[in-house]
This record gives sequence, C-alpha cells and structure tokens, in this order.
Amino acid sequence: MTIEQLLDEMWQDYVKISPASQQIYDLFEAEGNKVVNDHIALRTFRHPRLGISQLAKAFVDMGYVEKDEYHFEQKKLYAKHFEWPDNSQPKIFISELKIEEFSEGLQSLVNGLVEQIDETTLSVPNFSCIGRPWKVSHQVYSELINESEYAGWLSAFGFRPNHFTVSVNHLKSFSEVSDVNVFLKEKGFQLNSSGGEVKGSPEQLLEQSSTLAQQVETSFEDGSHTVASCYYEFAKRHSLPSGELYHGFVAASADKIFESTDRQ
Ligand code: NI
Repeated sequence: MTIEQLLDEMWQDYVKISPASQQIYDLFEAEGNKVVNDHIALRTFRHPRLGISQLAKAFVDMGYVEKDEYHFEQKKLYAKHFEWPDNSQPKIFISELKIEEFSEGLQSLVNGLVEQIDETTLSVPNFSCIGRPWKVSHQVYSELINESEYAGWLSAFGFRPNHFTVSVNHLKSFSEVSDVNVFLKEKGFQLNSSGGEVKGSPEQLLEQSSTLAQQVETSFEDGSHTVASCYYEFAKRHSLPSGELYHGFVAASADKIFESTDRQ
C-alpha cells in the first residue's frame, strides 16, 4: 500500500460519515480552487495496546517523521504531529486520551472496548480508517461521553479521520480564513464558534476554523441514535521570521477545535 492509497482510503471513509465535507470540497473546486489537505487528525486511547505510537506506526513505516508534541491539560489529552519529509503530503496529528487520569469507571469501560480488538487488527496498515473495532452499546457511549466528549466520540466511531483540513494558503479564490467562513455560512454550513470562529492569529503563525460535526444516525448494540460525527477544518499558515512556513500546531486553538464534535 502506498501513502497515496492509504490517504485516499482515509478520505473515502471520512466522507462516508461526513458527506458535508465532500460537498464543501466540491464547492471549493467549483470556484476554481485545487483543494490541498493541510492535515488529518486521528484520535486514540492511551492504552498499552493502542496509543499514538500504535496509530502512527503505519505512517512512520511509510516515511512520516515525528515532529512536535502538545499537551491539553483540561481535556486530559496528549498529541504529536508527523510530517512527510518534503511536506507534499498532509501532516498527521494524533491525539490520545490519558485514560489513567479518569475515573475507574471510565477506565474499565475503555478497557472493555480495547480488549475486543484482536492482534491481527491492531497491525493492519489501514488501522487509521478501520472504523469501530468493538461492539458498544448506547448506554456505554452515554456513560463515556458524560465524562469525556472525546471518549464518547471514539467509542462510537473508532479509528478513522476525525477531520481533514483544507489549506487556505492553497485556495485561489479565498485568502483569509474569515472569507472561507463567510462563504460557508452563506452556503448554510454551521461553524464551531467556541473561542471565536477564527482560532489563532497571524502572530501565532496559524489561523483555523471548522464546521460543526455532522449529526449522523449511528447504530449501537441497543439501537440507533443520532450523534456528532466528523467535521471539516480550514487552516492558514504564516511564515516564520526565516521565511519558512510554520508547520506546527497551536495547542490553545486545537483545544477549541476538539469541541467541534461536542453535543450541541
Ligand atoms: Ni485539525
């Protein structure tokens, strides 16, 4: 499997549960833009069988290089980002939920999910888009989400892109994140306004916005329920004093972006 094949498989999986992202992609292309992907975000649990290194392995094996790390104290998350050497492929941002900092109840529910994954599944190269590798009831989902929105999301959707991100730098018909926001709102899409619609600033070298996660009908062991799935993000990067484009992330902004999948 080549990196192009893996990224394409991830996109196909992502738009299946977030068709609005495909619609937005098509709207940009219809305006004469070539949509370039800035980064893909993945989520996992910090657990001996999972964690960032397990999810990153396929990408590192294909040539991705580990870069910076990020701490989200309040949400009890830790993250790292990985870059393709010449940045011709999207960055991969992987976060993990520090389950050891949660209640015994949450830890035992998460362990119950993780134990259902067999060894073979853990090492498939496309683990980043296999979806939910466990059975989960809406009851368990609800208990998890009451303690952590992130844990609830992960229990329902499993391993798949949480979001893709349009590089605003590469759009021809928009130069600012705020212009993209106006365009999307005119087209009827809802944006995440937690911490303001545009997160970050030119001084922080990264400006971002995102749609709110699409509400989708999802099946659980005890019936179907509508839950928040995935969203689309828009990022504009600025140059370092050296003139080189900044490729990192801003923890304070990412902290708010995580809330795009919260219950509304
Ligand atoms: Ni992101």
